Amino acid sequence: MKSNDIDLDNLTFSFTKTRSMYVAKCELGGEWQSGNIVPFDDLQISPAAGVLNYGQGLFEGMKAYKWDNGKIVIFRPEKNAERAARGCSRLSMPKIPANLFLDAAKKVVRDNADYIPNTKQGSLYVRPIIFGSGAGLGVAPSTEYTLVVYVSPVGPYFKGGLSPIRLIVTNDYHRAPLKGTGGVKAIGNYVPGMLPSGLAKKQGYAEVIYLDAAEEKYIEEVGAANFFAIIDGKVITPELTGSILPGVTRESVLYLAHEKMGLNIEERRISVDEALTADEVFCAGTAAIIAPIGSINYQGKEHIFSEGMVGRITKELYDALTAIQFGTEKDEFQWMTEI
Ligand code: PLP
Ligand code: COI
Repeated sequence: MKSNDIDLDNLTFSFTKTRSMYVAKCELGGEWQSGNIVPFDDLQISPAAGVLNYGQGLFEGMKAYKWDNGKIVIFRPEKNAERAARGCSRLSMPKIPANLFLDAAKKVVRDNADYIPNTKQGSLYVRPIIFGSGAGLGVAPSTEYTLVVYVSPVGPYFKGGLSPIRLIVTNDYHRAPLKGTGGVKAIGNYVPGMLPSGLAKKQGYAEVIYLDAAEEKYIEEVGAANFFAIIDGKVITPELTGSILPGVTRESVLYLAHEKMGLNIEERRISVDEALTADEVFCAGTAAIIAPIGSINYQGKEHIFSEGMVGRITKELYDALTAIQFGTEKDEFQWMTEI
């Protein structure tokens, strides 16, 4: 789609085709070769590719913003580069070098700069995917790997911006077991969530809260965002046990809470029973930013938080994070990478 045909004032979190994407390759046992910007198009891939048969692949997600002063910036892309490299190791793919990952992201954003909304309208979502593209039949690492980075202008992930969302705890499905792949952005982690999430949406909930697979007692995550509870002024989030994705937003929220707002932070297990006593709850992620949780349904009972409004600390954290991302305040922690 041509950039001036896009209705940037009514963006949702959905895919819009842009001008170009970046493609790089790596042979098994070899090094990643730097790639190129090419027109956005379908890929040609063998039906025997590792990603199609055995799900060998991961994705990342970052946001690029166009500030009012014209600067184009990406939020903490080096964190996504690190996480992608860790994911490659876990999924038996050659580790993506950080400089290649960052160079690819910057080049695609630059080449599609006219698709970036202003910060009131949304952002440009940057989606790197790394996958086994070589043909093979045995369950073994692919013979060839591909990195593609594409972008899409996006608006809010949850409808209604900062209005509180309704969530439901599932006792019927788990997201990820301990020692599985929950701690990396494996593509295979996401399809199992589509059924529970779809069922929840049919009942009027925005997403599902997953409990830990071992004891089914502790909160893990909210679909594709990390969970936070504010209890007695403390900012508490589930500790990274291996099954929880180490979110870049999660780390940033903890940092802001502690370093900028002087709040106590705790990374520890939170039972669902304890979470239901919280003063405020929210979830955080690249797509979700910070989304206040207005209510949680647990075992058929609705629990309301902050009288269904946005809690004070949640709002302060949202304002602190977005002021940096939207360039309305000094980037005092050097989180924004200018391209
Ligand atoms: N948890 C899961 C399962 C996710 O997919 C995401 C999204 O990336 C997050 C949490 C939040 O991570 P981040 O803040 O890095 O986007
Ligand atoms: C993100 O927040 O970047 C995500 O990856 C969420 C996504 C699964 C839509």
